[in-house]
Amino acid sequence: DKDPLIHGIQSKIRVVPNFPKPGIMFQDITTLLLDPKAFKDTIDLFVERYKGKNISVVAGIEARGFIFGPPIALEIGAKFVPLRKPKKLPGKVISEEYVLEYGKDCLEMHVGAVEPGERALVVDDLIATGGTLCAAMQLLERVGAEVVECACVIELPDLKVEDMEYVSHLGLE
Ligand code: PRP
Repeated sequence: DKDPLIHGIQSKIRVVPNFPKPGIMFQDITTLLLDPKAFKDTIDLFVERYKGKNISVVAGIEARGFIFGPPIALEIGAKFVPLRKPKKLPGKVISEEYVLEYGKDCLEMHVGAVEPGERALVVDDLIATGGTLCAAMQLLERVGAEVVECACVIELPDLKVEDMEYVSHLGLE
């Protein structure tokens, strides 16, 4: 039974009201990182789900996908590929724009980091509208990879995640 584990993880995520703007309840995972057991439990739950699934790429979304992605990648024997905000990667990139509540943003990936036919897992800390995860999936699919699933720690109720069968999460809101 995973419920005590999930409860332990949830209890370490700090909710900060009105950050970074009025009306936003910010889910702060830095407090989870301060607790080595809760952090490891989080990684282990994903490793358990994805090991042995023939995944060769873990793609992490800037910034907090860079925290949860690499330990999962190492444990399942996959490479780690950072998906970065614009103009951060030095090599040739492909870009995918996505719409935010106000304005738009963009993710970039190095050309050649992922080969056609590779099986990929996308990792981020949180899904709200799903726009960021969709852009990440597009990048991987454009280079011919297969996105097995997107893994995120926290799901905000903005979105009917149950309608997105490719998203796994820990059931935290
Ligand atoms: C947050 C979060 C996800 C994204 C989720 O990142 O870490 O990446 O928003 O939102 P969505 O599902 O509506 O697309 P943020 O925009 O705060 O960027 P940062 O990690 O670089 O601070």
